[in-house]
Amino acid sequence: MERIMHFQWYPGHMTKARRMMQENIKLIDLIIELVDARVPLSSRNPDIDELGRNKARLILLNKADLAEDTRNDEWVDFFKKKGCSAVKVNSKKGGGIKSIQSVIQEACREKTERDRRKGILNRPVRAMVVGIPNVGKSTFINALAGKACAKTGNRPGVTKGKQWIRLNKNVELLDTPGILWPKFEDQEVGLKLAFIGSIKDEILQTEELAAELVKFLNSSYPGVLEEQYDILAVGDAYECLRDIAESRHCLVRGNELDTEKAASILLDDFREGKLGRITLERPEAV
Ligand code: G4P
Repeated sequence: MERIMHFQWYPGHMTKARRMMQENIKLIDLIIELVDARVPLSSRNPDIDELGRNKARLILLNKADLAEDTRNDEWVDFFKKKGCSAVKVNSKKGGGIKSIQSVIQEACREKTERDRRKGILNRPVRAMVVGIPNVGKSTFINALAGKACAKTGNRPGVTKGKQWIRLNKNVELLDTPGILWPKFEDQEVGLKLAFIGSIKDEILQTEELAAELVKFLNSSYPGVLEEQYDILAVGDAYECLRDIAESRHCLVRGNELDTEKAASILLDDFREGKLGRITLERPEAV
């Protein structure tokens, strides 16, 4: 497994991201933290708890469309029990977005009441979106703001001045999301982030990664692989990749099975939700 983990998030990136986060957090009342609904813990960075002390917190289970819905609800409960507001959303299709403005107001109620007692009225709540790369921060900001205010795609380290997006008379959103660094030192976390594609494939061993995914699916979602690829019952993970290669006619040099191609097909299918809605982490295991 060790070879899988040769991805890099240089210490310099981390220091810069942390510094930017510290600066921006001073300006806001509410942290809107996006996590990936398929891996709600592995896609978090607990450092945000420390950085965001004394701020209102809202956790969004993004990409909820790709995760099992009953699990999404369990995770929402889990985060609520920890004292955060939490909702599931699909930023890509806009699911759950409409209710966000009221959820934001609710998450900041204490702060608004405090202001009111001090005689501060009509001061909008200021919020900032944070999350690890690729979790959907830009897509969410676009969906919430209703127009292309923030560019989607990966733009590490881009900040030019501070721009606020006025969502309504009560809420303003910092247009630049805060980038959190993944907990890359934890191998299990790294593996799950690689499954969902938030760590680049070129620096990973595709077949090894796919074999790990086969093992997970076979034990947690039995029957899914057999049905999707029309193959016999899965036993050995590498045998399974060969079966997928055969079933999908992935061949090299004439008639040799191309298991590397099969591995890529499997990973892509999983990431695009073609294997169905799958959650890699469950709250009861925490
Ligand atoms: P980031 O700012 O946090 O780095 O993430 P970004 O918004 O760029 O989103 C990363 C990818 O995740 C994008 O896919 C985006 O479409 C997808 N995405 C964001 N939210 C959701 C969601 O709720 N559900 C699903 N299924 N996907 C979501 P991409 O492959 O980079 O681009 P494209 O597929 O939009 O072309």
